[in-house]
Amino acid sequence: MTTQKSFIIICWSFSFFLAGLEPGTKYFYKCGDSSIPAMSEEHVFETLPLPSPNAYPHRIAIIGDLGLTSNSSTTIDHVIVNDPSMILMVGDLTYANQYLTTGEKGAPCYSCAFPDAPIRETYQPRWDGWGRFMEPLISSSPMMVIEGNHEIEPQVSGITFKSYLTRYAVPSEESGSNSNFYYSFDAGGIHFVMLGAYVDYNSTGAQYSWLKQDLNQVDRAKTPWLVAAWHPPWYNSYSSHYQEFECMRQEMEALLYQYRVDIVFSGHVHAYERMNRVYNYTLDPCGPVYITVGDGGNIEKVDVDHADEPGNCPSAGDNIPEFGGVCHINFSSGPAEGKFCWDKQPEWSAFRESSFGHGILEVVNSTYALWTWHRNQDIYKDDSHGDQIYVVRQPELCISSTLEGGGKPEDGGGLTNEAADLLARWTWFAASIEMLTVAVIWTSFY
Ligand SMILES: [Fe+2]
Repeated sequence: MTTQKSFIIICWSFSFFLAGLEPGTKYFYKCGDSSIPAMSEEHVFETLPLPSPNAYPHRIAIIGDLGLTSNSSTTIDHVIVNDPSMILMVGDLTYANQYLTTGEKGAPCYSCAFPDAPIRETYQPRWDGWGRFMEPLISSSPMMVIEGNHEIEPQVSGITFKSYLTRYAVPSEESGSNSNFYYSFDAGGIHFVMLGAYVDYNSTGAQYSWLKQDLNQVDRAKTPWLVAAWHPPWYNSYSSHYQEFECMRQEMEALLYQYRVDIVFSGHVHAYERMNRVYNYTLDPCGPVYITVGDGGNIEKVDVDHADEPGNCPSAGDNIPEFGGVCHINFSSGPAEGKFCWDKQPEWSAFRESSFGHGILEVVNSTYALWTWHRNQDIYKDDSHGDQIYVVRQPELCISSTLEGGGKPEDGGGLTNEAADLLARWTWFAASIEMLTVAVIWTSFY
């Protein structure tokens, strides 16, 4: 039996919302104006599984700092080959703000070239071009986004993030944040927490308060994996952006550690780096695995300098964040005691390489997840990759005794079954179909 439901959406480049979908089900749709007629090709996507320790998305692609260049194309071609169930885009999407309003390439350091310019130019058609570029991928795979600094695009009257917020919807209300700058969602047995680095992250602020409540509600019996993502990395041994968001780390790291976040994904640094489990710059088996994949292939150069190499340690005036304060520290103990930079690759930095690429996370069960970093130069070599490890959860080794509010990471008790199921049935699906005025979307239930 087939039931058909229709929705009409006024659209140009848009995101749309479908409710009442079944988990693990394929849905076919077209966009356009059937009265002209002017319909798009038929697309298909598959909804994610319900929260369960026994059900996971097959492959999750992690992409950062993508832009729209030949390197970006290679990255996306490779992602499509990997056929992801969903995509995590960890900020810096279009790089529209690297182009002048004429479409010409802007200055790499705009504030250096034009120190008196009150507003940075930004070429808005780039957003549409990027949408068309991404359509083959995100018309069939849900993409969850978090904002990066290239999305700020400051305008007069203090307006920021206008294009980003207009184009990409996130389940902020449904996750209780009521801010599109930070939110959470479930995908099978994984609870994702998406944090904003360019809004207030202080422990006295709204984001922190929401985060504490959200983490306290996570039912680890239902979603054993807890994965967080935000744009600028806290742990980074490259000279570029070194300790740039140290203030954010100092405000929020203890809370994430307390609730045993398993993996943290970030971008911003245009290179790859995977950290050993770490907390407060100290190796810790209960800390998260931090991974930086800001190597999508944008118009800016790839980062190659390491802060621990001679002559590469940034000065105090370098790496000033585009939001928040500066909290650079000299290490107070360990191999880098008394210094701002290490003399060798830090012990918390497990592997780093300056190549373009993307990552694939394949959660096997509540204990094992396979992480693979695919370099763009490996595109035609099926069995080659830049980095690959199993991330292993061993919660029995990390029982927390200081959790607030009575919540325990491993015994759950947050969301009701009904609420969890409801969240999972709302499939957030961002698609960018250009040059359409009206979209007709239908869903079929079998
Ligand atoms: Fe960035």
